Amino acid sequence: METKIFQTEEIDQAAELLSRGELVAFPTETVYGLGANALLPESVQQVFAVKGRPSDNPLIVHVADFSMTKAFVESYHPFTKKIVNHFWPGPLTLIFSIKEGSLSPVVTGGLSTAAFRMPDNKKTLSLIEKTGAPLVGPSANTSGKPSPTTAMHVFHDLKGKIAGILDDGATQIGVESTVLDLSNEVPTILRPGAVTKEALEEVLSVEIPLDKHLVKESETPKAPGMKYKHYSPDTPVLMIAPDDWDKALAWARANDQKVGLLATPRIADQYSSADRFVFADQSVEAATRGLFSGLRALDEAGKTDIIFAEVFPEDHLGLAYMNRLKKAAGQNYFSEK
Ligand code: TXA
Ligand code: MG
Repeated sequence: METKIFQTEEIDQAAELLSRGELVAFPTETVYGLGANALLPESVQQVFAVKGRPSDNPLIVHVADFSMTKAFVESYHPFTKKIVNHFWPGPLTLIFSIKEGSLSPVVTGGLSTAAFRMPDNKKTLSLIEKTGAPLVGPSANTSGKPSPTTAMHVFHDLKGKIAGILDDGATQIGVESTVLDLSNEVPTILRPGAVTKEALEEVLSVEIPLDKHLVKESETPKAPGMKYKHYSPDTPVLMIAPDDWDKALAWARANDQKVGLLATPRIADQYSSADRFVFADQSVEAATRGLFSGLRALDEAGKTDIIFAEVFPEDHLGLAYMNRLKKAAGQNYFSEK
């Protein structure tokens, strides 16, 4: 199959393919999604096949506006209106309990809840409207690879396997949306993203817990290559604590390891010899925007034995950055032993 790259003037064609049941990847402010018509179970099934993703993992239903969720949602949490007014369109996915039979189990993984998001991308909102149906959209990468932040990343992973890609350049945020579970009394963050715990707490004036599994996943160091290694390039990744860069690079030299640096300008400027992907500036926003792109670039260069990545404090957006980096690194920090 030829994978066509669609520009803005061609959204109609892309929508036509989606309404016929073909797969078309779409841009969002976070990462590119692998789109299928959420109301066509056979198309949704194809999404899992194309990604090589286990089909028990439920998908996000992308809507063009809040009212589009009403056909599916059984009951809304009392905070819904406030949250939606503040954060939609945006990088925040909301989990609600749904009306029985309103969505295929292929979409929900057979759960009585489903995930909804209105992405902050005009082309994609128009694509959903023109398709006349919500779109499922996991990140448009091959399962196990870093999520795609450009149309070219999608093309690299999925060319020949999907009908098209709607191109809108590089994404602004760089990591997937925050997932907030609103199906229980206490709203809980299941995945950190650019709508931060602090921002949610500020708007709602209540404490928002992180899901226990998530906390465990991001805080407990795990053996290399174990269960929590996701979003991962083929080249091994090590996280480098702020004071360990000299030691880590000395270790690499002594062991004849070619290092790819993934770091802010301040760190990268000190170590001139290594292969590198330098974030645009010192901010955690720039690091988050560059994280997946940098992992891909260093991995594809094929010249590096190991990637050394800079860490950030785990609050605000740093929580999302570190959550993804820890998965890419299989939780491993450089240490002298
Ligand atoms: O930014 C994003 O969210 C991107 C763009 C394309 O929108 N999409 C994305 O989709 O990251 P995906 O499929 O990779 O992530 C969906 C997340 C998964 O962690 C899944 O387990 C969770 O949402 N999820 C979906 N439905 C759920 C449900 N009913 N209950 C709990 N978690 C759910
Ligand atoms: Mg994904």
